[in-house]
Formats: sequence, structure tokens, C-alpha cells
Amino acid sequence: MAEQLGTLSRTHTCGALRVADVGHDVVLLGWAHKVRDLGSLLFIDVRDRHGHTQVIVEGDEALLEHAKRVRSEFVVAILGVVERRSADTINAGVATGDIEVRAREIRVLNEARTPPFPIAEDHAVSEETRLKYRYLDLRRPALQANIGLRHRITMALRRYFDEQGFFEIETPILTKSTPEGARDFLVPSRVHPGEFYALPQSPQIFKQILMIAGMDRYVQIARCFRDEALRADRQLEFTQVDLEMSFATPPLVFEIVEGALAACFREIGVEIPRPFRKMAYAEAIATYGSDKPDLRFGLEIKDFKPLFTESPFGIFREAVAHGGTVRGFVIPGAARYSRREVDELVDLAKQAGAAGLVWARFTADAVQSSAKALGEEAVRRVLDASRATKHDLLVLASGAPEATSRILGQLRLLVAKRENLVAQGRWELTWVTDFPLFQWNADEKRWESVNHPFTAPREEDLPLLDRDPGRALAKAYDVVLNGWELGGGSIRIHDRETQATVFRLLGLSEEDAKSRFGFFLEALEYGTPPHGGLALGLDRICALLAGESSIREVIPFPKTTQAVDLMCDAPSVVDPRQVRELHIRPTA
Ligand code: AMO
Repeated sequence: MAEQLGTLSRTHTCGALRVADVGHDVVLLGWAHKVRDLGSLLFIDVRDRHGHTQVIVEGDEALLEHAKRVRSEFVVAILGVVERRSADTINAGVATGDIEVRAREIRVLNEARTPPFPIAEDHAVSEETRLKYRYLDLRRPALQANIGLRHRITMALRRYFDEQGFFEIETPILTKSTPEGARDFLVPSRVHPGEFYALPQSPQIFKQILMIAGMDRYVQIARCFRDEALRADRQLEFTQVDLEMSFATPPLVFEIVEGALAACFREIGVEIPRPFRKMAYAEAIATYGSDKPDLRFGLEIKDFKPLFTESPFGIFREAVAHGGTVRGFVIPGAARYSRREVDELVDLAKQAGAAGLVWARFTADAVQSSAKALGEEAVRRVLDASRATKHDLLVLASGAPEATSRILGQLRLLVAKRENLVAQGRWELTWVTDFPLFQWNADEKRWESVNHPFTAPREEDLPLLDRDPGRALAKAYDVVLNGWELGGGSIRIHDRETQATVFRLLGLSEEDAKSRFGFFLEALEYGTPPHGGLALGLDRICALLAGESSIREVIPFPKTTQAVDLMCDAPSVVDPRQVRELHIRPTA
């Protein structure tokens, strides 16, 4: 039988008591973290969100008997007095480690079944079990710390944006499709048969409308929904720190966003240097093979095309002759690789999508390469051009320039991991700018937006929209941290004509544009200020600052990579009546 809390109220949290409290009567409320029964003596470690405190039960037979009922995760009230621990029992690793509470009364407020995994120990538990019993998982100190950090980061952001004159404004969840490149989640309307709301992929159109509405500076901690494949850095629903400013220029957006990220970093005691470095998209792709380069290590990709125009090695010569190139990077210290290690590297390259990989290195008195046909002289030249030393290994791949760099970029990440080149505790922030406005979708034979269709082209590239849209660059920028895209944004199109042109280029007929975005095109005609903004991924910020490799570790109730909520078993079948009311007929 559970005992009652009655009028008892806690005097201290389980992380609060210190030597200064010795001699005080206290009431602690929390969970039995660990129970150690030594016969005539019993210890209960009582835990709450704030920490844990050792409780000692001794001397009073009835109380001892009662305390022996307590198991891990029982909810208890402890009434007792704070005592100083003897020197040999002090636990310096715990904030309350200098004291203990000698119990006078213990109330068992609720019992608990034996949990499927221990809360008190850092056991490896399958993610499936953790997510099914998320309420127990969330009791574990590591997740409690992550949720606490997320709270502090969110509060720091709110304070920061308030100081910068932003209004926090909510936008609708039941709305119309906002294109961000993913599939929409649709919600059937009961009162309008055959019609659907879409959940927002982002508040993009609303925040632009808020600029038209004269709100000047908008921010929202906004939940967004995208029906896309889940990964370590992707969830179906996630949280953006979404912002927009009237009369924005890229430098203003950079300054505001850098200030926001600096405020986040302060929550982990890090002062990040500002301004962040800037890198054009083309450079990021060429040198790092990625538009979200991890700058914590080198392995920069270099182009060696001029060395291979007349190469006796057919694969390289042909690649160059057909508009391709030969690129590669130097792996420091890898000249010592054994045959097996070199083979593993080639396998990694294949994993990264390469058709093959050529390697080269100096030997004691000559050079050596996996492509004998290259000839010794050419190998020596490319090794010299790459600035490889006799300790290093040069890897080379050929093909279309961007594709080759992207493959080498993947390999670069795998090699850095394998060689342990990623410096821990380093924060490498960069802006990636000058994205192309459009990319060609070869399957569907049409242009699509690299960002979203509201992104403004650079003024100097406006004439390219008619002539050569693929070459037009956008006033778009991403902010990247340690190889993760933290946020993306742009200056927006603010005149109806350019917006209509972009819709047309994207293959939207005038009718489609009108039915999907007519309200927005109309709004653009009522005095739209130049504006721009960005959205940061809050989950990604929190994960990186918490030192986690998946955003699931900073989201209280995430979905699995199979898009399932294991705790409440969603999605699930619903009552057929409910489906009928929504005027939809299941086909499966
Ligand atoms: P974008 O699509 O780049 O831009 O999204 C902005 C940021 O949101 C985060 N993010 C995600 N996080 C977790 N799971 C996902 N599925 C997911 N998708 C995106 C990323 C990303 O950088 N409306 C524009 C912003 C703008 O132009 O102002 C937008 O949504 O950190």
C-alpha cells in the first residue's frame, strides 16, 4: 500500500544539500536510485532531476524494516537530518558527496515494477527498448542533462532575439503546402470533403507574409513536418529557430545568426570566434566535396587535371578528354599502409561511390602507384604537385568534376574517422554562400530550386534567368558546424515579376502557380519590403552542443528510423467510422 504525501512539501531538491546544511531537518522527494542493504544498515540514493543524495537508515529497527521494502525506482519521501560524511566516505564525484541524510521517516509514495533496464547504471540498452520505455530512458542522467541543455539553449535564443527586437509570432500548423523539397504530411478536412490541409514543411510563406504585414523582425521556435527518409540528423517533425527580417542584407543576417549561435555556445561555456569564415559553394564542393564541409581536419581535395591531359593511363586521359578531371587528396602518414590497408581504402572509396581509386607514394628510392600505366615520371610529378612527403599516401579519382569531388568528399570523411583525424572539442563554423539557384532534375527533365522557390537570385545573375538559369547563383547561405548543416536561409524575391518567372522556370503553369501560391503572389503586390532570413535546426544545435551524434538524443519523444513512435505505437489503425467521416477510403 502506498503511503500518502499528505501536506509534506520538499525542503530541498536531491542536488541541493551541502555541508552548510549539516544539522538541518529536511524533506527529500524523489526516486530510489540505488538501494544498498548491509543488514543493520541501509543506504538509499534518492534521485530527482537535480541530482542525488545518499540517505542512511540505521539504528531504528522498525524504520529499517520499512526501508527494506524499497526497491529501485520506488517513489519515496525522506524526512531526516543532514549529517557530514566521514572523510573516508566522501564522494567527490557527486555535488552532494560531502553529506548524507539520516532518515527519521520514510514514506513509500509509490512502488515500481522492475524497469527493463537499470536507470542508475550506464548500460548499453537497445534503442528500441529505450524508445518504448522513453519515460524511463528520460530518467537517466545523460538524457536529463540533454533536455536541460535544450531548455537553456531555447531560453538563451528567446532572450537574444527579444534583445534584437524580434517578435515571436506563431504561424499555423494546419495550412497549405510550403515547398521545401520534401513530401507533405496531409490532413483530410472533415467539413470540406476531398480537401486537405498540409502540415508546414517550414513557416516560409507565413514569415514572408509577416514582413509584408510590417512585423519587421520575426522569430519562431517552430515545429516543422517533412515526410522524408529519417537519419541521425533528420526527423519527420523537428524544430526550427525560424527568423525573418525586413530590409535584410546578407551581412545583417550573418551578424544576427552568429550572435544567436554565440548565445547557444555560451550555454556550454564556449565563446566562439566571430565573424565566421565564409566559403563559396563552388569552393566547398571542389575542396571538400560537400556543401557542408567538416573543417576540423585537412585532407583537402586538389585538382590535377593539367597533369593528365596526355597521360598513358587511359582512364585518366579519357576522363580529361571528356570534360572530366582528376582529383585527389593526401593522407598524412599513410605511406606505411600495408597491402591490406590500401585495399581497405579502395573498398571505402567504392563505398563512397567511386568506380576505382588510384594511389601513389614515394618509396625509399623511387615512387610507387596502383596504376602502373601512369609511368614513374607522372607519378613523381603528381606527388610533387600534391606536396605529399615520403610519409604520405596520395589518392586519386577521375570523372566529372563535381561528382569526383563528392565521392572524394565522402572518402575524406571515412578516412578522417578511420585515421582518427577529427579533433574532439573543436568547433568549426563556416558560412557556405553563393549556392546555385537551380539544379537540373535529369529524371523529370526540369529545373528545381536548390533551396526553395522564394530565394532571390544575385542581382547580376537576373539576366541569366532567361538565358542560362543553371548558371544563376542565389543570395542563399547555409551555416555549417563540424560537417552538419545547422541552418539555411536567403534573401527573398520581393517582386511579383521575378517570383512569377521563377515559378515558370520551375515548370509551374500560371494556373498552378495561381492555385498554389496565388494569395502570396497577390500579397507581393501590396508593398513588399526587401527581406531575408534563415532557419536554424534546433535539434541539430542541441545534439552537437551536447556531444551527441544523433538528434534523437535531444528530442524527448523521437521516432525511430522506421518513422514509428514505439512508445505510443504511432502511426496506428483508426476507427473506420473516423476514416469515413474524413471522406477517405483506405486502399490497404
Ligand atoms: P531548410 O530546409 O534548410 O530551410 O531547413 C532549415 C534547417 O532545419 C533543419 N532541418 C531538419 N532538422 C531535423 N530534421 C529534418 N528533417 C530537418 N530538415 C531541416 C536543418 C536545416 O538547416 N524555410 C527555409 C529557411 C529559410 O529560407 O529561411 C528552410 O526550411 O538544420
